[in-house]
Amino acid sequence: MPNGDVTKGELLYEGKAKKIYVTSDPALLWAEFKDDATAFDGDKKGTIVNKGVYNVALSEAMFKLLDEKGVPTHYVDTLSDRELLVRRLDIHPVEIVVRNVSAGSVCKRYGIDKGITFDEPIIEYFLKNDELHDPMLNRQHVTVLGYAPADALEVMEKYALAVNEILSEYMLARGVRLVDFKLEFGSADGKVYLGDEITPDTCRLWDAETGEVFDKDRFRHDMGEVEDHYAAVVKLLTEG
Ligand code: TMP
Ligand code: ASP
Repeated sequence: MPNGDVTKGELLYEGKAKKIYVTSDPALLWAEFKDDATAFDGDKKGTIVNKGVYNVALSEAMFKLLDEKGVPTHYVDTLSDRELLVRRLDIHPVEIVVRNVSAGSVCKRYGIDKGITFDEPIIEYFLKNDELHDPMLNRQHVTVLGYAPADALEVMEKYALAVNEILSEYMLARGVRLVDFKLEFGSADGKVYLGDEITPDTCRLWDAETGEVFDKDRFRHDMGEVEDHYAAVVKLLTEG
């Protein structure tokens, strides 16, 4: 897609981690990644210094890998170390979580221990709605309540499992275990694309040998050395 002449327009939307601007091309958006960090529906607020830079670097690398392997993403170009040019999508307001290992809300909800490797990946759906605290959905909620059409949901599930296989293999080869992650999808021109970001904010990433935590759980649970761990895991996953 040609983008040499694209210029930044008005702020369209400011989320917790990104500012999204329109551009001179109606099919493209300008995403600026912030250092702001929130957890627990925004109850906990803070800053992870240079998070925007780490998150752009990892998202770029993962989106390029996925595009190459046949999962279409909204990534178009990298504009600076904190800014991506992305395809404008009609976002389906469904967060798809894929889990390989138990951690986080699945432990709390079902009273299970952390660190159990599942026999097969578990897919969960949540409504993207802060006011309602992102309630969990089943497939019928998604389609019957109109959050995504059945054909798009099918494609989203297929891509979510493909993302899991591609990223799990890529990361494990670099010493990192992909424990779980959250994806968002949208449609453009009748086609489904992976949107949002792939970062230590949206994935749980553990050292494959030691179990050391490299992701946003360090911020959520005051584990310390957050920036160092973001820097380290992004280096591992973007170099070599
Ligand atoms: P959870 O265990 O808290 O449900 O989180 C599952 C995965 O989804 C984890 O990798 C973190 C990510 N996630 C987000 O990206 N945004 C969110 O709002 C939440 C709750 C989780
Ligand atoms: N990003 C979400 C929030 O700010 C939750 C999380 O990632 O833990 O509330």
